Amino acid sequence: MHARAVVPTTALLGAVALLLPVVDARAGVDVRPSLIAHRGASAQAPENTLAAVDAAAGMGVSWVENDVQRTLDGELVVLHDESLSRTTDVEEVFPERAPWKVKDFTAAEIARLDAGSWFGPAYVGTRVPTLTEYVRRVEGNHQKLLLEIKNPGLYPGIERQTLKVLGNEGWLDRRHIQGRLIVQSFSADSLRAVHDLDPAVTTGLLGKPAVADLPDCARFADLINPSYASLSAGYVSAVHETTGPHGRPLRIFVWTVDDDAVARSVAGYGVDGVITNRPDVVRRALARP
Ligand code: G3P
Ligand code: CA
Repeated sequence: MHARAVVPTTALLGAVALLLPVVDARAGVDVRPSLIAHRGASAQAPENTLAAVDAAAGMGVSWVENDVQRTLDGELVVLHDESLSRTTDVEEVFPERAPWKVKDFTAAEIARLDAGSWFGPAYVGTRVPTLTEYVRRVEGNHQKLLLEIKNPGLYPGIERQTLKVLGNEGWLDRRHIQGRLIVQSFSADSLRAVHDLDPAVTTGLLGKPAVADLPDCARFADLINPSYASLSAGYVSAVHETTGPHGRPLRIFVWTVDDDAVARSVAGYGVDGVITNRPDVVRRALARP
């Protein structure tokens, strides 16, 4: 009876196979295009939380994207918006503190906030993670990190501080730098600072610079990461034809693709990565012949 219970049937094996990722299944193995869970698996769990990291891991997704900002007392935390309002209960906990900006709250105050109940009752009590907590969870899950420095103009020196945290957590050793870490930003200045501080780190410039500007970007950026909206096969080719700071062709991760037709379209252009809130949808779309 017991033995029978643990021997999978053919049907069960088939079901398991369907659940297994068809892309990016194993950390350290690059399959094209890579699948990146945007703010974690943010359709499954509250964005930019450890629950979203775990949800991505549960779906077999290696890469997670996040957004890093800084508190009033200098702690790096993971949150997308400049304000805490949309994704936490800050307005209830601190009603007098409008406009509730991350930079105006201490780490201890932010640690009191509920960053999960807005998403659903299953996530009540979920917290805003510090970058250190976040990186440890990504490490524990054997995942890879696409780290976005968000609003760097608000946080002078955030590049050095981010690298310090990554270094303290062992994420700047060869094993992580070669394939498990990309630092990205919409700010070319911020990305240039990251590259100058540690030229070994792989960097991604968010946005869609003109083709004529790609050689300049390639001095400090290994990837160009545009929105899918205005992407074309020609642009992807132009990116790939440009040599990056590490002597290899620039790569391109496109965002934020949650639709199967768009996923197939950008994959057809030859993008190297698809950043998505819905890894399940994109995976299914790309698995189809
Ligand atoms: O990774 C790309 C994407 O995260 C950029 O947009 O606003 O979601 O941070 P946003
Ligand atoms: Ca982001």
